[in-house]
Amino acid sequence: MSLTAPGAAETGPGTCPHMMDPPLLADPFGGYGRLREQAPVVRGRFVDGTPVWFVTRYEDVRRVLRDPRFVNTPSHVPGQQGADPRTSMMDLLNVPHQLRVYLLGSILDSDPPDHPRLRRLVTRAFAARRILDLRPDIERIAEELLAGLPERAEPDGAVDLLEHFAYPLSIRVICELVGIPAADLDSWREWGGDLVSMRPERLEQSFPVMIRYCHELIGERRAALREDLLSALIRAQDDDGSRLSDTEMVTMILTLVLAGHETSAHLIGNGTAALLTHPEQLALLRKDPALLPRTVHELMRWCGSVQVARLRYATEDLELAGVPVARGDAVQLVLVSANFDPRHYAEPDRLDILRHQEGQAENHVGFGHGIHYCLGATLARQEGEVAFGTLLEHYPELALADPEGELDRARLPGSWRLNSLRLRL
Ligand code: HEM
Repeated sequence: MSLTAPGAAETGPGTCPHMMDPPLLADPFGGYGRLREQAPVVRGRFVDGTPVWFVTRYEDVRRVLRDPRFVNTPSHVPGQQGADPRTSMMDLLNVPHQLRVYLLGSILDSDPPDHPRLRRLVTRAFAARRILDLRPDIERIAEELLAGLPERAEPDGAVDLLEHFAYPLSIRVICELVGIPAADLDSWREWGGDLVSMRPERLEQSFPVMIRYCHELIGERRAALREDLLSALIRAQDDDGSRLSDTEMVTMILTLVLAGHETSAHLIGNGTAALLTHPEQLALLRKDPALLPRTVHELMRWCGSVQVARLRYATEDLELAGVPVARGDAVQLVLVSANFDPRHYAEPDRLDILRHQEGQAENHVGFGHGIHYCLGATLARQEGEVAFGTLLEHYPELALADPEGELDRARLPGSWRLNSLRLRL
């Protein structure tokens, strides 16, 4: 089959998107939005250059996420011998071979029958720890950090909210939940930064240390169980008696801590910036804090921190929105474009915290959809509600330090985030 299928946009400048294209990195909403309207299933390139189909419409994205003919692990495609972008990414990053099993074994990369087994075991552990009961702990941590913010001000009076509130809040919450000692939080933050920076020389050093740390922590917990998530993971047992192996448990800790803190921190950063640049929405929320759950739904839709889902692979020849997709082809589902699809949302570009009805479940795809739907969504929503609620309550005059200037946006493929968010308290 030719690379460009009939009905899809022709390959060529401006029509064969590459995830590293500078305009797409600078403005993923605009760039992927144009694809959604002009070529909703189109051949493009992944970060490492691997050919992928970009899928940008809401219904198509959700359909693929529910479709069992797509898998997350390329070797699960029958007869598949093609390149695995995950392996080439790890080659690029010099990840030592003996450690790759930890990255490849993540629940995010697993497929049935392994995925439901991992998911059941970790869901049991989450249920045992009752996420909704964590709210007072999240509030306590948020209050503590907010009280300390004035001391963090730079000489010009500005405070970086990401550095001093969003990051410390989300890392402390996830580490407390998992059972990582407070003394080790800084190491985790550094390791998370190393992973995101994708700098091989940093990862080569930190990755083995991270793995060793997790094995030691599991050993300590086995010797003396506590009430944390790690202990619950050790206790968790499936109906058939199966348990997580130590390697699976290390991978699960890495996935939870790293997937859990970066994403939540940047929801808090993006969301605060969005509210401060939309004073009428901010005024609504200040007047009625009961709007917080609906506000978090809308901020997840409007400026969620995850731009794309993990790559999916077709296990058979099939058709997607009229475009033939061959067995083994990789599909890149663009969540930030689906969340702005005018076929699903009226005036999608408008930030509207009243858009979602009270008590209505979210309908955006910022947390994904289907069997890999975000395990931490309830926790992330709680963190968002507490973060925005306590921040606005503490600082009624909160404003951007430089209201005329550009926001300090990172330009990373797949992730929507700020490098810093300087505010005046
Ligand atoms: C899955 C986004 C917070 C743990 C996902 C997926 C998305 C997502 C889009 C699905 C990916 C796919 O299908 O390819 C987010 C966002 C968050 C957030 C935007 C914050 C605002 C968290 C937190 C945790 C977490 C706090 C940990 C407690 C996970 C895990 C999965 C996942 C383990 C994989 C589930 C599976 O494969 O069955 N997340 N997430 N996430 N998330 Fe989150």
